[in-house]
Amino acid sequence: MSKVALVTGGTRGIGASIAKALKEAGYSVAVNFAGNEDAAKKFSDETGISSYKWSVADYDDCVEGIARVEADLGPVEVLVNNAGITRDAPFHKMTREQWDEVIGTNLSGIFNMTHPLWSGMKSRKFGRVINISSINGQKGQFAQANYAAAKAGDIGFTKSLAQEGARANITVNAICPGYIATDMVMAVPEKVRESIISTIPVGRLGEPEDIARCVVFLASDDAGFITGATLSANGGQYLA
Ligand code: CAA
Repeated sequence: MSKVALVTGGTRGIGASIAKALKEAGYSVAVNFAGNEDAAKKFSDETGISSYKWSVADYDDCVEGIARVEADLGPVEVLVNNAGITRDAPFHKMTREQWDEVIGTNLSGIFNMTHPLWSGMKSRKFGRVINISSINGQKGQFAQANYAAAKAGDIGFTKSLAQEGARANITVNAICPGYIATDMVMAVPEKVRESIISTIPVGRLGEPEDIARCVVFLASDDAGFITGATLSANGGQYLA
């Protein structure tokens, strides 16, 4: 029987690419999304992958949403914590609300999703948790004190949980994408984006598929000895 994989923020951008690649690799895939119903419908119609609406920022909604996925597909064995938002602002302009929103989704969201699944993975003695962090969690970024703090936190979470999961055959890894051609990066003002691209040694933005391939590998049995790792996929922009 195929393994069940759940991808948060899976109907657009990097998450959609991850979901499609996991399906192609033979997984039974479900995706979560928070808001954009039209994009979710389009994604599900095109891929045949079911999408489930809830906010990863809310623990109770995660418990309830995961229960719906598991009732439909069976126990989740591969969790990809991909959902993320930006609320960029130079720190002197950043509001407490912008801080809370980004920490709530990008950091607390991975607690909210992983915690309800953890005891099942432990008792079944198998699990793959793959956290999509960011280059900006490694190096920091002007106007992203909130985002960089959350994404750096995701790496600390990964390293800690890897130690707790190891004896139960659960691997927990982080991927740090660089600047990938998605709506999130395209929302950066063009001049700023061009100056960022000029600092990427390969001379281009990454593609969502560059990240999806990393996820498929880390989810595979071949990656069973890799845990607590941080895999950078950034075109050489930052060498961690
Ligand atoms: N380093 C140093 N100074 C910078 C700077 C930088 N990287 N970027 C902007 N500044 C300066 C500007 O030149 C300007 O200076 P002056 O006031 O002297 O002219 C000042 O900082 C910014 O002032 P503004 O009033 O223009 O700022 P703003 O409130 O309009 O905010 C911004 C603009 C939000 C900073 C915008 O420039 C921006 O979006 N920057 C990009 C941030 C970024 O890279 N986000 C990543 C998004 S993609 C992502 O997050 C995915 C991932 O994981 C990689």
